[in-house]
Amino acid sequence: MNQDFLGRVVWVTGANGGIGQAVVQEFRRRGAIVIASDLKADVSIENSDFSTQQSVQLDVTKRSQVHALLQRIATQCGTVDTLINVAGVVSFGSAQDLSEEEWDRVIDINLKGSFLTSQSVLTGMKEKKFGRIIQMGSVVGKNAGNARPWIDPNEQARASNVAYGVSKAGVHIMTGFLARETASFGITVNALAPGPIATEMTKGFPDNLRALIPVGRMGETNDIVHAVMFLAHQDAGFVTGEILNVNGGMWSD
Ligand SMILES: NC(=O)c1ccc[n+]([C@@H]2O[C@H](COP(=O)([O-])OP(=O)(O)OC[C@H]3O[C@@H](n4cnc5c(N)ncnc54)[C@H](O)[C@@H]3O)[C@@H](O)[C@H]2O)c1
Repeated sequence: MNQDFLGRVVWVTGANGGIGQAVVQEFRRRGAIVIASDLKADVSIENSDFSTQQSVQLDVTKRSQVHALLQRIATQCGTVDTLINVAGVVSFGSAQDLSEEEWDRVIDINLKGSFLTSQSVLTGMKEKKFGRIIQMGSVVGKNAGNARPWIDPNEQARASNVAYGVSKAGVHIMTGFLARETASFGITVNALAPGPIATEMTKGFPDNLRALIPVGRMGETNDIVHAVMFLAHQDAGFVTGEILNVNGGMWSD
């Protein structure tokens, strides 16, 4: 069995979602100590035991919870050397119609959440002189979405997702800032910019947008897992600040 992540302390947020579960499974398979956290989980931070495979309840938008979990990890497993920020929410709505509440909710979870967890691991990674942080961006944070009201006005509601796209564009540029700030400490910070991946999040993905994917299919969670494992590997130390397209050819830059 491939044990190239043996002993690595890997924290995955959003661990109970489609992508999160697949990432957790692969790190465990490769020998890592995995801390899985999600908004929807049964075990509280106070009762968490990382020798079990249960995931821990954590809201990434709450700084106090993030720090409480980090303390708990430090006591049981040591320093987090790998953080995979998977937690996120999808959102639909055109700029014309979007409510202020929806804007705040999406930016809070997708952008501030990833910032708070990333910020929390930096001191430990710097002391360890090694770290890997991987964020989930999106093709929509690069291409400004797929709204095509001139072709099909009814598609607009599902295809226009301004808050989501802006939150992910924020994740992309935050990745660059963190990468440059930490590069001399053996830490790399990268993001994936996935196209549509078949999970709960994309259940209602319109067929006419699916037809725009050159590879001819939706992505699978394994497509994301392979890219994460590449960036998280100890040999990927010269790759930092990268926003990696994993999108079946929908967009390249
Ligand atoms: N599925 C796709 O097509 C796709 C494409 C591009 C990017 N992404 C990104 O990948 C990530 C995972 O997507 P997925 O398809 O697995 O979605 P998913 O809905 O299956 O999983 C997301 C997980 O995040 C958790 N979560 C939501 N709010 C949270 C909070 N405040 N604190 C902690 N956890 C929270 C949810 O409980 C859920 O388990 C997201 O950031 C998403 O934006 C997904």
